[in-house]
Amino acid sequence: MIGRDLLGIEDLDRGDIERILETAEHMLEVGRREVKKVPTLRGRTIVNLFFEPSTRTSTSFEIAGKRLSADVVNFSPASSSISKHESILDTARTLDAMDPDAVIVRHGVAGVPKRIADRLKAPVINAGDGAHEHPTQALLDLMTVMQAKGRIDGLSVAIVGDVVHSRVARSNIFGFLKMGAEVRVAGPPTMIPAAVETLGVKAYTSLSEALAGADVVMMLRIQLERLAGSLFPSVREYTATFGLDREKLRYAREDAIVMHPGPVNRGVELSHDLADERPSVILDQVRNGVALRMAVLYLLAGQPLAGERRGSW
Ligand code: NCD
Repeated sequence: MIGRDLLGIEDLDRGDIERILETAEHMLEVGRREVKKVPTLRGRTIVNLFFEPSTRTSTSFEIAGKRLSADVVNFSPASSSISKHESILDTARTLDAMDPDAVIVRHGVAGVPKRIADRLKAPVINAGDGAHEHPTQALLDLMTVMQAKGRIDGLSVAIVGDVVHSRVARSNIFGFLKMGAEVRVAGPPTMIPAAVETLGVKAYTSLSEALAGADVVMMLRIQLERLAGSLFPSVREYTATFGLDREKLRYAREDAIVMHPGPVNRGVELSHDLADERPSVILDQVRNGVALRMAVLYLLAGQPLAGERRGSW
């Protein structure tokens, strides 16, 4: 894995995912110490390149890099030459000349992390590209389910909401299927991509049917910033039909857990109490996110680059 990019879960196999999750479990221990730091990446430079807003992903990558003793540089486009219209690839080349050991990229357009990876010597980690993939989110979700349920194989996972705009949903579909779970998606027909069943999932427009027998209910944020036109008549109607509260959660298995990648539109896709309390595991997801990103940084940037150029995952 050393020296490779992490662009999507689609490129990983089950063995890769298991290795990352095992490494992340070890990293959790570092976060419980009084001094939350190990020297693993001392002298390495990690660049956080976020062209889109982010709270938990950019912060957790920054904390992850720092807990491994790397120097972490946050590059925000507004204060960089991007605002002087420098192209993304010129920016990437400039960064490359500074010899980073890993570059983390978030961008609103699918495929940008790959284009940057093609120009860079350092490994590139996709932190979310358009509606394409968000691999570290899916990995931290798999880690959270593994902790809560002790397995992923044979579980039934329902992903509910704005699937069509969601890179989190796509990455999780690939991840849970590769790990042996059954995956269903549910939402209004306008939010379910036409060809989603070709990925190997079953699509529902009824929440109760999608939740029947589910071990894991993953709610997605309504991506108000990506809605070109209105995909549902009103927020109130959406909440009434697809918003999750304790009453609708009864459709799922009694011991089902509730997940959300954040940020939550409270009272829209998820009721206030479910956003805060069990069986919701939202804060476990955040905590695991730091350990998981430490694992990815360690596996990708923890050794000197062997050759000129490395492959993609
Ligand atoms: C997600 C994202 O940006 O794709 N958030 C995150 O990374 N935790 C989900 C979202 O914005 O809805």
